[in-house]
Amino acid sequence: MRKRGGGVYRLDWLGTEKCSTWISFGYAIFTNSIKISGKVRTVLNLQDFWKNKIVWEPPVQTQKTQQEFLETYFIRNLNKDDVVCDFACADGLWSEVVAPYVKRVDGFDCSEKMLETARKNSEEKRLNNIFYQYMDAFNVRFECRYDHIMMLGLLTCIDDDKTADRIVKTVAESIKVGGYLIVRDTLNMYEPDDVYYDEPNYSAIYRAKENYERIYLRNGFELIAYRYLNPYSSHPIELGSHGYVFRKK
Ligand SMILES: C[S@@+](CC[C@H](N)C(=O)[O-])C[C@H]1O[C@@H](n2cnc3c(N)ncnc32)[C@H](O)[C@@H]1O
Repeated sequence: MRKRGGGVYRLDWLGTEKCSTWISFGYAIFTNSIKISGKVRTVLNLQDFWKNKIVWEPPVQTQKTQQEFLETYFIRNLNKDDVVCDFACADGLWSEVVAPYVKRVDGFDCSEKMLETARKNSEEKRLNNIFYQYMDAFNVRFECRYDHIMMLGLLTCIDDDKTADRIVKTVAESIKVGGYLIVRDTLNMYEPDDVYYDEPNYSAIYRAKENYERIYLRNGFELIAYRYLNPYSSHPIELGSHGYVFRKK
C-alpha cells in the first residue's frame, strides 16, 4: 500500500501488477479492475443513478465549454431542414440549444423523470419542434435515419465495451452518410486502461482516451474535430471532459 497524500491510497488488492486501485478521500474508489469495482459498487447498473434524477445541471464551466464546442463545430453547420437526435438528452438542456436551428429534435433518455421535466421545459419555452421519448441504450433502435446525432455523456454510463460497440454501431446505422455524431465524455488521461469509478450511490466508467476513440473509429466514423473541454481532477488520476465530432463514412 502506498500513500500518495491528500487521503489517496493506491492499492494492489488482487496482487497483480496490472491491478491498480485508488481510494480517494475515504469514499471514492477508482480502479482498473472490474472485479474490484463489482465488489464495491452500490448501484446495480451505471444508469440506476440517473433514473431517479428529475433535473441534470452540469457544472457551469462544463456548460460553457460544451456550448462553445457545439457552436463552433456543430450549430454553424446545421440546416433548417435537419432532423437531429439527442441521445441521452437528460432534461433537454442541449436539445433546447439546437432546436432553434433545425426542423426537429428527437430526445431520448432512460430516465422517465428527466423526460417529464424536459417535456415541461420545452412546453414552457414554446419549443414545439422537440419530441422526447424513453429509450434504454441497452435496447437501442431508432425509427428513422437522422441527419446528425448528439450523444453527450452516455458512454460514461455504459461500462462494457461490447454494449458500447453495439450502441455506436446502431447509432452509425441511424445517421445519414456524411452526418455528424457529436460526443462528449469524461475520460481518464492517466492510465492506459479504462478506470471504473464508484462512490456511494454513483458509478461511472472513465475510459482511456485511445480506447474511447477506437469505439467510434471501428464502427463507421471518421474523426473531424476534437477538443479537451475541461480538466476535472488531476488527483489521484487525471480526468477531464472531451468533446469529439465524428462523421459517418
Ligand atoms: C452525464 S448525463 C448527460 C446528459 C446530457 N446529455 C448532457 O450532456 O448534459 C448521462 C445521461 O445518460 C442517460 N443514460 C444513462 N444510461 C442510459 C441508458 N442505458 N439508456 C439511455 N440513457 C441513459 C442518463 O439518464 C443521463 O441523462
